[in-house]
Amino acid sequence: MNTTISTAYNYKVVRQFAIMTVIWGIVGMGIGVLIASQLVWPDLNFGLPWTSFGRLRPLHTNAVVFAFGGCALMATSLYVVQRTSQARLISDTLASIVFWGWQAVIVLAAITLPLGLTSSKEYAELEWPIDILITLVWVCYAVLFFGTIMKRKMKHIYVGNWFFGGFILTVALLHIVNNLELPVSAFKSYSLYAGATDAMIQWWYGHNAVGFFLTAGFLGMMYYFVPKQAGRPIYSYRLSIVHFWALITVYIWAGPHHLHYTALPDWAQSLGMAMSLILLAPSWGGMINGMMTLSGAWHKLRSDPILRFMVVSLAFYGMSTFEGPMMAIKTVNALSHYTDWTIGHVHAGALGWVAMISIGSLYHLIPKVYGREQMYSVALINTHFWLATIGTVLYIASLWVNGITQGLMWRAVNEDGTLTYSFVEALQASHPGFLVRTIGGAFFFAGMLLMAYNAWRTVRDAVPAESEAAAQMTAGAHV
Ligand code: HEM
Ligand code: HEM
Repeated sequence: MNTTISTAYNYKVVRQFAIMTVIWGIVGMGIGVLIASQLVWPDLNFGLPWTSFGRLRPLHTNAVVFAFGGCALMATSLYVVQRTSQARLISDTLASIVFWGWQAVIVLAAITLPLGLTSSKEYAELEWPIDILITLVWVCYAVLFFGTIMKRKMKHIYVGNWFFGGFILTVALLHIVNNLELPVSAFKSYSLYAGATDAMIQWWYGHNAVGFFLTAGFLGMMYYFVPKQAGRPIYSYRLSIVHFWALITVYIWAGPHHLHYTALPDWAQSLGMAMSLILLAPSWGGMINGMMTLSGAWHKLRSDPILRFMVVSLAFYGMSTFEGPMMAIKTVNALSHYTDWTIGHVHAGALGWVAMISIGSLYHLIPKVYGREQMYSVALINTHFWLATIGTVLYIASLWVNGITQGLMWRAVNEDGTLTYSFVEALQASHPGFLVRTIGGAFFFAGMLLMAYNAWRTVRDAVPAESEAAAQMTAGAHV
């Protein structure tokens, strides 16, 4: 028995991260629904500092991006790297450190953010002691991932691992450079950079958090789970390699599109805009590569809701990576910036792409690592699919309307040069859109609850799948 376990893959850490993805998804999206409701009914701030919108908003972003998204990325990358390398993770202890270390980071975020302890940099709000913990955990994760690649049984490194690897290395670099800060007490620090430089570093980080955390890693997921679920090879392996190099080369330059019409030098803003427009090409190359993988297997969409999650996620990926470059054009950004259009764009990517590809991949992965044929209920997956799709569409559409309304109302001027509308009038006009967004978010959240129930029923009496994996490895079965 012991020999069997030592040759099998380490699925324990995959199971742990997979379950926590569902749990943190519910927590993060639950907070999302709460803050969306606060914008409709301000009384839900409860008059307390800890529950105010300003403190819960960063809690939401950290919970969905780093807790939900981070756990999904860790579960899938550690699963994919083992299967495509036909090698067990290099160390079970290191795997445990990564899991428990990452959960500690999340819990510390959940405590400090409502208390108002923040470095005030968006998506990098956590204070310096937590930043150091993140760095340590991330180094362990990198050693675990790349160490496993180094002991792979075949020469080739599967393209999904290139994307995961690119994500791991770049996030390390971004985190360290953007969080260089001077601590003045246990919970307060100041950035090492000043003024426009600070803003530029922050948005170099912020945009690449999108590019590498919310995109490259999830593309790694896409390149493994879409072909697996479709039962087809990737449409073009050559395109996937071009996609990888083009994407990582261009993404890193696009950050200044977050700082149009600011004190940032004009040439830097124009560079950010140009690079964002170029980014359309690799993004769509990847999207098309994923979609076309279904060539000859489109009929499976009729009966397979997991595949539907994946294809719709690719459609939203294509949509948000078309919208992004358009919003990066300075004249368009003059209208969209500060409005709900940005928030709609964010969630086209976050709900439509990031969450849906993660959900699809998890529905594929959970039965595998729990030694089950399939999820407990395919009908529930289907219901989840429709709740998520309708929820995302309601979310995005209402905020397009809001965004454009706000942008136009803010810039409207009378003949004598005075403003046509007061800010409060634009806010009143946004109220119906806020309500529809909340309903859309509640749909998406309800789908996550179904997923939790389905996952619980699937794993309740499961036999962990190490022995099945060991059997496959002994038989020399391919990924
Ligand atoms: C039930 C689902 C969700 C709801 C109801 C929701 C709601 C919200 C709300 C109300 C805001 C604040 C908007 C504002 O300040 O006007 C927000 C911001 C944000 N959310 Fe969500 N959210 C959900 C899911 C997600 C997911 C899954 C992700 C990421 C994977 C995400 C990422 C973000 C980000 C990055 C921001 C900040 C956007 C910015 O600053 O431009 N959200 N969300
Ligand atoms: C080609 C790809 C993309 C480009 C060129 C792009 C471009 C942009 C632009 C121009 C903005 C508005 C900046 C502003 O006015 O402040 C923006 C905001 C944002 N985008 Fe994208 N986008 C792309 C894809 C995505 C994807 C796939 C996601 C999510 C998975 C995403 C997440 C975000 C977030 C979170 C923000 C809000 C940042 C903030 O202000 O807090 N973007 N993007």
